[in-house]
Amino acid sequence: MKGIILAGGTGSRLYPLTKVTNKHLLPVYDKPMIYYPLQTLMDAGIKDIMIVSGRGHAGHFLELLGSGADIGVHFTFEIQEQAGGIAQALGLAEDFADKEDVAVILGDNIFQDNVSKAAGSFKSGARIFLKQVPDAKRFGVAEIKGNKIISIEEKPALPKSNLAVTGLYIYDQSVFEIIRTLKPSGRGELEITDVNNEFIRIGKMDFSLLHGYWSDAGTFESLFRASELVRNMKSFE
Ligand code: DAU
Repeated sequence: MKGIILAGGTGSRLYPLTKVTNKHLLPVYDKPMIYYPLQTLMDAGIKDIMIVSGRGHAGHFLELLGSGADIGVHFTFEIQEQAGGIAQALGLAEDFADKEDVAVILGDNIFQDNVSKAAGSFKSGARIFLKQVPDAKRFGVAEIKGNKIISIEEKPALPKSNLAVTGLYIYDQSVFEIIRTLKPSGRGELEITDVNNEFIRIGKMDFSLLHGYWSDAGTFESLFRASELVRNMKSFE
């Protein structure tokens, strides 16, 4: 399985922190943000990893991460010219994926769970990772019936559950076909939620529940909370 870290987007919600650097290079407690999703992929045994970033400060990712040889992985870098959405950024990785399954992680998502079992047992279609949260309307929200996922709504005003769709997704190669059929959403982006709803519609989506902490880090509050979570976890190590 190959890994893809999506680190495009504008980081506008963190302005002026993102005026002269990239959101994914900002500190989360004692490390640059992107180290955390990278560690999640590495802990799952993934060694061949593409970083998709926007144009702004793209060279800094190369300087920070290099070839990956020092940590036993191999990095490939790709540029997303404009922030056209998570699904658009993923579409840029089709040649890199080269028909293999992919684990896709958002560059601003911080996970405590080790997902190597979920990655190792993946067969086909798509798998997402859900986490109970108190503020579901900030996220994609899953509706579950029995043990089946029946829909995902992106940032609903009235969430149907408290289960956020976290920024970690496993797909087989059919994801790239689905991305080609997408139309931009109201916010002008190709939405990963539309990709996931298509996998649900064709009966090829399953999910895992996360038990450890999870946070995004794309707003002042969540960035602060992510730093606190990492710091608290370290004090128990
Ligand atoms: O954090 C989980 C949430 O991430 C999910 O629950 C939502 O379903 C999903 O849509 C997404 O929501 P956000 O609106 O919070 O995503 P955001 O625009 O902040 O982008 C998150 C990351 O995705 C960002 O750190 C880098 C990557 N990205 C985003 C965009 C818009 C790209 O690589 N390219 C892009 O064009």
